[in-house]
Amino acid sequence: MITTDLNQIVIALTDTLDLVGIDEVAHGKRVGYMAFKCACEMGLNKVERERLFKIGLLHDCGVSSTREHNFLVTELQWEGADEHAAEGERILQTFSLFQDYTAVVRYHHTPWCDLQALSEIDSKVALDANLIFLVDRVDAKSAEHYCRDLLEKTDEIRDWVAGLSGNYFAPELVEIFLQASAFDAFWLMLEPPHLERFIYEMNQHVEPYDLSQNEIKQLSRIFAYIVDAKSSYTAMHSLGVASLSRHLAQLAGLDGDKIDRIEIAGLLHDIGKLRIPDELLDKSGALSSDEKQLMHRHSFETYQVLRRIDGFRDIALWAAYHHETPDGGGYPFGRHGSELGVEARIISVADVFQALAQKRPYRRAMKPWEILRFLKRMAGNGKLDREIVTLVERNLQSCYLSALVNQDDNLLPPSSYSY
Ligand SMILES: [Fe+2]
Ligand SMILES: [Fe+2]
Ligand SMILES: [Fe+2]
Repeated sequence: MITTDLNQIVIALTDTLDLVGIDEVAHGKRVGYMAFKCACEMGLNKVERERLFKIGLLHDCGVSSTREHNFLVTELQWEGADEHAAEGERILQTFSLFQDYTAVVRYHHTPWCDLQALSEIDSKVALDANLIFLVDRVDAKSAEHYCRDLLEKTDEIRDWVAGLSGNYFAPELVEIFLQASAFDAFWLMLEPPHLERFIYEMNQHVEPYDLSQNEIKQLSRIFAYIVDAKSSYTAMHSLGVASLSRHLAQLAGLDGDKIDRIEIAGLLHDIGKLRIPDELLDKSGALSSDEKQLMHRHSFETYQVLRRIDGFRDIALWAAYHHETPDGGGYPFGRHGSELGVEARIISVADVFQALAQKRPYRRAMKPWEILRFLKRMAGNGKLDREIVTLVERNLQSCYLSALVNQDDNLLPPSSYSY
């Protein structure tokens, strides 16, 4: 049975959202920090300050494509900005503890003059959303100056914000921001390693909230969904790997608690892929050796994110080992068969199975018997565990159905928005 703290898991997992930036990482953290500082300037209480901090961390969860992220850090407004805000709202709605964040995320790219014309939003939501919009755009403006000439640019950025008062941003928020950002310390905290330190300290001080195993699973499904949405080819991949891993764990006779934890590891195994550029995931030809090396980083990134969550030690390893192989030729640790527990071996078989059951840019989706033939060949070459592959062989049809996860079981209601 695992319990872990909501804040700790949110901070760790949002690290992966920040990975989407590729060159410009930590956007969510900086937005969370600036929202928090403005909340302090407004004299809001601890609960409200921490709420705005967490909304800042999560506000761009509707974006997992690196292509779209480029707009986030370069433009004031762009066509389609509203779509990731709507997608973010849809994603956060699926988790009961995020209900209070959804409307703010929905309107975090809506200019103040438009917000005021919307009768359905209450005034507090409008202000919160506009605060996120303001600090979000400040981060976009500052992005190219971090660790370079930031302090030389702060007056210019502050003037720019002041110039948008009443139009893009609420006049009272502009005042608050100008007060909060009046000194160098506000800006210097946005740069590493100070930002990391700030996040670490927030992690220590935010009000703890113990999640149940079921809530951890729900939250993991949200992040699995975000990873899977990165490429149309990998839609539902993590959800399918989790579902098949769960099925195989049941067939292998593991106990209920372990089955749940294997499922969570399956949901999160590819979270490090958020760092991989879309072009690579969608590439139709063979990868060059540079591209392969870049791709190989993802399971290590997964490990680094998950290992920091209390109670996730095992889950982090099982997820991180999904490209390790019994012959010791896998990555990133080069573990051998005897070092790979049944949990990790299940997840690697489920990972290959699910990927083969889906179409890829360079091949069609395989039929169950073709998948089995492929898995057996890999097991014969020491690349997958023989016993787990035998388990698949005995239960091929049910494994296939598990890997493809019933579409009705999808996390979110259907969307008109496609990535
Ligand atoms: Fe955004
Ligand atoms: Fe943003
Ligand atoms: Fe995978």
